[in-house]
Amino acid sequence: MKKYVKDLRLVGREMLREDYLLLRLTDEQAPLPPMLPGQFVQIAVEGSPTTFLRRPISINDHDAVHNTFDLLIHLVGEGTRALARLQVGDRLNCIYPLGNGFALPAPTAASQRLLLVGGGVGTAPMLLYGRQLHAAGHRPTFLLGGRSSRDILERERFAEFGTVCVTTEDGTLGERGFVTHHSLWETETFDAVAACGPKPMMVAVARLARQHELPCHVSLENLMACGVGACLCCVEKTVRGNLCVCTEGPVFNTNELTWE
Ligand SMILES: Cc1cc2nc3c(=O)[nH]c(=O)nc-3n(C[C@H](O)[C@H](O)[C@H](O)COP(=O)(O)OP(=O)(O)OC[C@H]3O[C@@H](n4cnc5c(N)ncnc54)[C@H](O)[C@@H]3O)c2cc1C
Ligand code: FES
Repeated sequence: MKKYVKDLRLVGREMLREDYLLLRLTDEQAPLPPMLPGQFVQIAVEGSPTTFLRRPISINDHDAVHNTFDLLIHLVGEGTRALARLQVGDRLNCIYPLGNGFALPAPTAASQRLLLVGGGVGTAPMLLYGRQLHAAGHRPTFLLGGRSSRDILERERFAEFGTVCVTTEDGTLGERGFVTHHSLWETETFDAVAACGPKPMMVAVARLARQHELPCHVSLENLMACGVGACLCCVEKTVRGNLCVCTEGPVFNTNELTWE
């Protein structure tokens, strides 16, 4: 898949909570390329003297009709906080779309029951996954987890594409506990699981999926620098040897990973 390095125009900016930012970008000169859920963008952070490296952010949504895509960003450090200072009309230099992305089931498998699990800002790629599954005739179940209700974002947008279930650690929304504690694991049946979020969450989801004999894919968020396979700082041990998460991933079948 061809990669682009472009200055994209910011056409939308919304703070969803005080530390979660939603950016909408467009290419004013050309149609955006196809984008797969799980693929990401490497963003150059300008105006921040300490942020030399680009920051990897998952594609949260893609609207081919309006030629825009969204990024959902948790403000955790200098780079992401600098992005929060951008205003509509500003330009952002991006390399995209990077990585492999989640696979879409073949159209013949339209009855597939898919469980998409997201923890914290790891829910970001699941929205685009839900949109594309829905467009292909599927109705996935989303299981969104966070520490409290304020960490559960974009619920209404998820609900457009499937059933939304929630867990919060403090019980302020949905069922209390971690995503692996939700009752749907016992009451529902699925054909496959996909997950993105903190590593301990993905390890626990992978273990549970294995117990239920379900194929499971996860999107890893290893530290990255170049994002294009040159620096080797994102390497993950797999049964195929050490692989760069930025080029061979970020999506992996958990059978390939050695982290459980
Ligand atoms: C493939 C991929 C997709 C991602 N998608 C999203 C997303 O959709 N939304 C989102 O909010 N975050 C996402 N992240 C994480 C995001 O890249 C980091 O939170 C961001 O780079 C932190 O930059 P900072 O300068 O604000 O923080 P820093 O001050 O640099 O660090 C704060 C925290 O972020 C972690 N971090 C720093 N740099 C990186 C890096 N290059 N890669 C990964 N983690 C880093 C550090 O370990 C630390 O815990 C993704 C990461 C990867 C690898
Ligand atoms: S981030 Fe440089 S090789 Fe993956």
